[in-house]
Amino acid sequence: MTVAILSDIHGNLPALEAVLADAAREPVDHMMILGDILTDFPQFTAETLRLVRSLPAYVVRGNREDYIADHTAGRDGDDWERYASFAGNLETFRRLSAADLAWIDALPVQLALTFRDFSCRMVHDAPVSGSEPLKAQNKRALRRAARAVREPLLFCGHTHRPMVERAAGKWLVNPGSVGVNFDGTRGARYALLRWEDGEPRVETRSVPYDLAVLRASCAPDDSWARVCLRSIETGKNCNLELIREAQKRAGCWPVPNDIWNALLREWRTEGKI
Ligand SMILES: [Fe+2]
Repeated sequence: MTVAILSDIHGNLPALEAVLADAAREPVDHMMILGDILTDFPQFTAETLRLVRSLPAYVVRGNREDYIADHTAGRDGDDWERYASFAGNLETFRRLSAADLAWIDALPVQLALTFRDFSCRMVHDAPVSGSEPLKAQNKRALRRAARAVREPLLFCGHTHRPMVERAAGKWLVNPGSVGVNFDGTRGARYALLRWEDGEPRVETRSVPYDLAVLRASCAPDDSWARVCLRSIETGKNCNLELIREAQKRAGCWPVPNDIWNALLREWRTEGKI
């Protein structure tokens, strides 16, 4: 049995297409998508969601789907309309149909699945909300997550870094990010799990795709998408770096538009984006 595990697509359609083409060469029995499907490359919103919805995949929601569901329900006030720092989210939201929004809103937070060979649980970040991030170096968090689930396999995303770890007798598998990976490989990350002799064998893959095509698809003023490109190219979370610097200058979040836009102008002048 072979399972393809995808996470954190973030609206990067060329990366998703590259992963699906790669996975199509394998005898994949099941596909799992661990959330954060949209928001960072809004130009591909409708096509990305159409493609994801067409897949015979199990899907859970990520924090990005929570943001969209909150905005749909009016639970987040008018920050997206007022603050330039949310421009990518707002543009994504505007490109979604009512049916898309309903589909996103109905996504489960977790899924527990039982197959012929094994049972597993899918989550976006951690099985207990508010937990520390599940990173390989954070053994305490891994143990806590492993003990919180009954299943021998826990699939998680969110960190944008691949991980295959064992804790408290369970396997914890993060396939890395399809759309905005932070590990410097520049490829689209996903994982293949094969169940052999009663044990999971996990292969994490980095599939190359044309970043120049992705760059050319970004509007000149779509600064957030360009910061995502820089994250992919440098292997560092430049998006978080930008947010932290803006917060430092403003002393608050959300950041006033004049401060946010001035910082983006600096990054442009420095050739970062
Ligand atoms: Fe993500």
